[in-house]
Parts: sequence; structure tokens; C-alpha cells
Amino acid sequence: MRILYLGDIVGEITLKCLKENLNTLKNDLKCNMVFVNAENLTQGKGLIYKHYKALKELGISAISMGNHTFSKKEIKDYINNEDVTIVRPANLNTEYGKEILYVKYNDKTIALVNMLGRVYSNTPLDCPFKTMERLLKEIKADYIFVDFHGDATSEKKAFFYEFAGRVDAIVGSHTHVQTSDEETYNKTSYITDMGMCGPHLSVIGDDKDMVIKRFKTGVFEPLFVSTDNTIDINGVVIDINGEVRKIERISKKYKINVD
Ligand SMILES: [Fe+2]
Ligand SMILES: [Fe+2]
Repeated sequence: MRILYLGDIVGEITLKCLKENLNTLKNDLKCNMVFVNAENLTQGKGLIYKHYKALKELGISAISMGNHTFSKKEIKDYINNEDVTIVRPANLNTEYGKEILYVKYNDKTIALVNMLGRVYSNTPLDCPFKTMERLLKEIKADYIFVDFHGDATSEKKAFFYEFAGRVDAIVGSHTHVQTSDEETYNKTSYITDMGMCGPHLSVIGDDKDMVIKRFKTGVFEPLFVSTDNTIDINGVVIDINGEVRKIERISKKYKINVD
């Protein structure tokens, strides 16, 4: 089984890029399924139904989120529907959304879990380690994947070593910058951050001039997603072949037409 997992998709411009290129990329990489993190798809924060549907029309099997899961409140209208293939952070205290998403491939089942890091976070969150221990008692699946959405490298790496051998893949998201530390240890594949799928000329997806202005002045003005038409597509390919596990970094650039 080969799964392409793409990091945080930023903005509608990136959705357009995926519409144009994802199928070819998936075929070139000989992947069976695509998983994505989509917490930044709608205007850089959140995921409205129209965009969720667009991801499903692209054949994406599973969608994990992050600190922006509920940034567009419309998600509450549809995230609890049984057939919706979104997993929200398990250590958030909410009745909205699934804390385990089961994905079928042939006769195998993957359980996908999403977790938020607590370091540098001002959200009241349950301990990701204790939450994962709780979920491991509950999960019934052939394979377990975790998208650990957090800022601190140390927290993600510690989580990796704690759960290595007990889950099959732990992929990091949230920083939007891909790390070069992918490895498979004790049959668990890991990367600290998959990187983003978003406009290249940007500060982690947002218009660079707006971000520079915010840093220089300290005055809050809403940021918007960069309109650069060179799109970075970052992620990993995870291989599960019997006892053999592998992880490989993917980093592509596409030019798209913007009208
Ligand atoms: Fe993000
Ligand atoms: Fe995030």
C-alpha cells in the first residue's frame, strides 16, 4: 500500500493547482490513496463544505485538520455527518467531528488520528500523549496513522519515539516548512513536518508584504493568501508492504494560470 500524504493546503489557488496536477502526481508516484491536511484551504483558515466536496471530487480519501479546524464555523454544519472523511484533533474538547477516521483500502483498514501540539499553543488541549494512549485502546484497524499538528519539533519527535512500534506512521504538519528528518524506526514512519501545499512567494502561504507589515508595525490587519501562481506541493509517500515500511519526501513546484 502506498499513500501520498500532502501537508497543509493553503487557499483556493492551491485547490486549483491540485485540480490540474494531483491525478498525474498520484499516478507518477504509483500511490493507491491520497490523504491531505486541509486546515488552511478556505481563505487560509478553515474548510467550508464547497471545498471539502472539491477535495472529495479529486479522489482524496482522508482529510486531517489542525488549529484552524473550526475557523470557518460552517464546518459545524457538516463535520458530524457520518460519511464525511474529516478527522479533527482528538485532544480538542468538542462534540463536533470524529477523533478517529477509518479508511478502507481493499481488505485493509487504516485508522487516521489528528493531534494538536501543546507547545506554543494557547488553546486548552488535552495531553496528546494521554489522548493517544486512550485512542490506542479503542482503535480497531490494520494500520494507524497520526497527523501531529504542532509547532515544536521536540514535541513531535518525542511523540514519535513514544509511539514508535505502536502506530504505522506519524506525519507532522502546521509549520508549513518541510523538514528533512524523515525516517522509519521500529516500523513507524515519521517526518517532523510535511511542509505546505501553497503559493511559493509567500510567508508560509500568506501575502509576504502583509506579513512583513504586521511584524514591523505590530498592528493587526487580516492576512490573505498569496496570489503567486507558483505553487509548492509538499508531502510524503508512505509505503506499507507487509513488514516493510518506508517514507519518502515529496516536493514539487507547479505553475498555474490565474485569471
Ligand atoms: Fe497550517
Ligand atoms: Fe496549523
